[in-house]
Amino acid sequence: MVAFTINGKPANANPAPDTPLLWVIREHLKLTGTKFGCGAGLCGACTVHVDGKAVRSCQTAVSEADGKSITTIEGLSPDSSHPLQKAWVAEQVPQCGYCQSGQIMKAAELLAANKTPSRDEIVAHMDGNICRCGTYTRIIAAIQRAAKEA
Ligand code: FES
Ligand code: FES
Repeated sequence: MVAFTINGKPANANPAPDTPLLWVIREHLKLTGTKFGCGAGLCGACTVHVDGKAVRSCQTAVSEADGKSITTIEGLSPDSSHPLQKAWVAEQVPQCGYCQSGQIMKAAELLAANKTPSRDEIVAHMDGNICRCGTYTRIIAAIQRAAKEA
């Protein structure tokens, strides 16, 4: 049995210990905002926070989440009012949208640690979160906007 907090609420699961956290989030807890992309740690679509750190949940065994606090896109803010979520709307970032929850969770990790990131710091931090639609320019603009408004 693995017990943790997810989006501020207690949860538990009893899968095999090496079950990817992503499976538990999507299939057991039905929080489907976090996406399955590559399943191999290469795209970032599955990014969530574990104790505030952005991790790739397809590569994180659920046993590693035991006793920890997990945040998914559904829990980033109670009413989608996080500065990044507002900036994402203002900059009309998504195209197909599939990668975007992972992009936002990765960006949220950056702004939590650095409220005034430079463009280079944004690019370096977001490196590895892949968008097949090529929305990178708008992602950077949205993070810059959120940083100003945070
Ligand atoms: S689905 Fe986890 S990194 Fe691609
Ligand atoms: S918006 Fe389509 S993959 Fe990023």
